[in-house]
Amino acid sequence: MEIKNVGVLGCGLMGAGIAQVAAASGFKTIVREVNQGALDKGMARIKRFLDDGVSKAKVTTEQRDTALANLTGTTQFQAMKDCDIIIEAIVENVEEKVAAYTFLEAGVSPNTIFASNTSSLCITELAAKTKRPDRFGGLHFFNPVPLMKLVEVVRALTTSDETYQTLFKFSQALGKDPITAPDKPGFIVNRLLVPYLLDAIRCYERGLGTIEDIDKGMKLGCGYPMGPLTLLDFVGLDTTYYIANIMFDEYKDAMFAAPPLLKRMVLAGKLGRKSGEGFYKY
Ligand code: 3HC
Repeated sequence: MEIKNVGVLGCGLMGAGIAQVAAASGFKTIVREVNQGALDKGMARIKRFLDDGVSKAKVTTEQRDTALANLTGTTQFQAMKDCDIIIEAIVENVEEKVAAYTFLEAGVSPNTIFASNTSSLCITELAAKTKRPDRFGGLHFFNPVPLMKLVEVVRALTTSDETYQTLFKFSQALGKDPITAPDKPGFIVNRLLVPYLLDAIRCYERGLGTIEDIDKGMKLGCGYPMGPLTLLDFVGLDTTYYIANIMFDEYKDAMFAAPPLLKRMVLAGKLGRKSGEGFYKY
């Protein structure tokens, strides 16, 4: 199936990144937010990123202008009726996602493919709650979306071969280098990353080292671009806590159990960069 028109539901951190990449890759892209304020914020984020790219000489003014010309914002579900694919990147809540799919299904073609960017929910469960379980899959992007080359293409039990092939090729058309991941909590990357991040918190809790030394150890000793506690602040402590709980719930394995400090930091509102403080102050 040929993809020409792309829809993105949600213009938060991930949705904005996905919409930007789709528009910059030459797709006519429409991104929907719940209200004008949230939409303006998301569109401003995209413009800022592209402008920064121009200042850093990573993006030409022509590329920026083409990306912006391919991109439209909306607050209406009906405006997405001509999309060949709709990538959903809204809040990690099954009921809210299903409500959005139901609104969309009232207007879009039965052929439109739905893909969720969820990092933790079950793709098969989401697919089963639509009228197109065969035209549904996961496309899991990484933050910051415009810079990270990976997309995990996730097949639900019901995803057809054609849908899977289309999702894989579409990810490549976005300039990404996709991998196929199973519909299991954490897929491939978070299955490996989350226990590592939780362990870094446990090590800090148990006095293994200072925040700075734990980060410096992994950064300089292993060549990781960010130490684990910096990465936790970057991803968001609430997001990590939420993913860990879902993984623990399904696998019942202690390696996914959230350390007490993580829970307490989330309760105290120390969520990382987004709240101004996590393991570091911003
Ligand atoms: N437009 C275009 N290119 C840009 C740009 C922009 N606005 N801003 C930066 N770049 C380019 C830079 O020029 C540079 O390119 P180069 O390597 O060719 O010179 C590259 O992007 C890196 O940018 P910077 O040098 O400005 O920044 P850093 O070197 O500090 O890298 C980072 C920033 C890419 C965020 C890096 O620190 C990193 O990779 N961190 C780890 C991020 C990570 O692990 N993400 C995954 C999180 S887990 C997740 O998302 C899953 C979820 O489910 C939880």
